Amino acid sequence: MNSPHDRPLKATELATVVTDVVGAILGLDDVTADVLSQAKHLRVISRHGVGVDNVDLEAATSRGIVVTNTPGHNSVAVAELTLALVLALARRIPYHDRLVKQGDWARVSGMDLAEHSLGIIGIGRIGKEVAKRAAGFGMRILYHDPVPPPQEFLVSVQASDRSLEDLLAESDVVSLHCPLRDDTRNLIDRSALKRIKSSAFLINTARGGLVDEQALYEALTEGALAGAACDVFSHEPPADSPLLALDNFIATPHIGSATLQTTLRMGLMASENALAVLRGERPANVLNPEVYDRE
Ligand code: DGY
Repeated sequence: MNSPHDRPLKATELATVVTDVVGAILGLDDVTADVLSQAKHLRVISRHGVGVDNVDLEAATSRGIVVTNTPGHNSVAVAELTLALVLALARRIPYHDRLVKQGDWARVSGMDLAEHSLGIIGIGRIGKEVAKRAAGFGMRILYHDPVPPPQEFLVSVQASDRSLEDLLAESDVVSLHCPLRDDTRNLIDRSALKRIKSSAFLINTARGGLVDEQALYEALTEGALAGAACDVFSHEPPADSPLLALDNFIATPHIGSATLQTTLRMGLMASENALAVLRGERPANVLNPEVYDRE
């Protein structure tokens, strides 16, 4: 059965469709413990995507439901969007587009990417693809990640390790590429924003909850941050967010993975993962391997 909506389902909506199914391929739908308690026959939740902050993993594990995802398949698409947003902010492309269409030829000077620094928070699959592309633009790459990437990769993009505090203070562009977990929620809060240079830009193509959006609004309106671009929000769509009224803020509707090629690749992998579980096989990307230990 297909979702009747072109958006993630809320828990109450999802609960009504999972009661009789054995497998579910899901996007960012709200998979709470309550939903799972009503999914008596469910054997697999196959995430069409990477982040699983929308799935109650513990509840799924306790019910023996296998949870899988599709890592790697969207890295290039998310990295390309990230660079598009860096360029859009650095050259104020949406702002100039609006002016020209209103008959105004005013020009605001931008920032070269070359020789400016990009601070990448989370240098996993997506962060690495971002680093490669930004290095191609001549950016200086800084990163912060508790799991260091291979030395060979660091040498290839000439990336330097920084503490979170130093990365925030030194970067001309800060870009988030870490998962949303309890320890990363509101990672970019008021005090983190205070460390960032007032001439810098912030990009979030990872997860909305990583940034305190009220603090971001204040930083952008008080001149404490030059600009920001978010593809993800703590509430999607962010209908009432005051950020949407700002000229130095760019919003896109969670389109990081939304290219035809990536959607297709993730769809195939998500289907293969679900079918493998239903055939009694173990799929490639199991996020809660403990379910197999229970057997
Ligand atoms: C992901 O892969 O988690 C993206 O946000 C799309 O679901």
